[in-house]
Amino acid sequence: MKIDINLKKEINNSYQVHIGDLPDLNFDTKVAIITNPKVGGLHLKYLLSKLSAKEIYVITVEDGESFKTLATVEKILNNLFEHKFNRHSTLVALGGGVIGDMTGFAASVYQRGIDFVQIPTTLLSQVDASVGGKTGVNNSYGKNLIGAFHQPQAVYIDPYFLSTLAKREFAAGVAEIVKMAVCFDKDFFEWLEEADLSDAHVIQEAICKSVQTKAMVVSKDEKEKGLRAALNYGHTFGHVIENETKYTRYLHGESVAIGMVMANELASRLGLMKTDEAQRIKNFLVKNDLPISYAIKDTEAFYQAFFLDKKSSDAEITFIIPQHLGGVELKTGINKEIVMDVLKTFAEKRGA
Ligand code: GLY
Repeated sequence: MKIDINLKKEINNSYQVHIGDLPDLNFDTKVAIITNPKVGGLHLKYLLSKLSAKEIYVITVEDGESFKTLATVEKILNNLFEHKFNRHSTLVALGGGVIGDMTGFAASVYQRGIDFVQIPTTLLSQVDASVGGKTGVNNSYGKNLIGAFHQPQAVYIDPYFLSTLAKREFAAGVAEIVKMAVCFDKDFFEWLEEADLSDAHVIQEAICKSVQTKAMVVSKDEKEKGLRAALNYGHTFGHVIENETKYTRYLHGESVAIGMVMANELASRLGLMKTDEAQRIKNFLVKNDLPISYAIKDTEAFYQAFFLDKKSSDAEITFIIPQHLGGVELKTGINKEIVMDVLKTFAEKRGA
């Protein structure tokens, strides 16, 4: 006997991304704001002045990528149980990508899934991480290997939050902006080359262009069956760098910047990017205070780590290869020697 479980009905989990001043937010549910001491200290008062709900709790977790773990998520969940949150309650993520990813993940598993809202406070989370419903944590095997797709109810991007952002954090966000441009929009890249991103109007425009690009990609491929993987340009290499350096040496966007340089080198060797195009991207990264090199200690170990990437299988690594400026391709079956040659270029720079 066979019984069909028919799940083909459409679930509408569409939502809006608001870019501009944070509006008044009214919830008729219990709300928990998840934040860290730094962001909470700077912005909690502002958020509370805009927020009304049945009851409001604040859950503060430790700051930084090294705390993006199952243990921290468990702390959040335990807090929700202690305050008797139910299936109609809402979580609000106030912070950068780490807070957003953990809040989303906690929301995805709490009583099998509750609503959450993203209020990203870093440039990186405003232009990329807060949109698209990727949630999760890191473990000793790699970055974001545990997680779920769980879309937020809404995303509120208020560029005001950027006024307190450290220069280094700002630069890390610029890496994700240029990622969108290189992969999908040559005109955007050329606009960025000339743009003064320290100008409040210009950065708001860059945020809008990035979110429009991300929205286009996620709308076509929510669960990363194909196109969305292109947003991992620079990440295949970058995640290995982050993992090797225990999430403490580089900010995520910084390791993505180095990863993009590595991916461009691979693209050049495959004849998919001209040397001058790779150089223009490098120039842009340097101009925006981003690192472009990393001394690989053990190239074979670095290569083997690619197999833990979510896009890879036991037998094959998938690389995201930019095609000139404004195009991108997912490539499998690249000869190991070619990849090793690229990695050796970076190993040779050790101590430089
Ligand atoms: N940050 C890449 C993605 O959301 O797919």
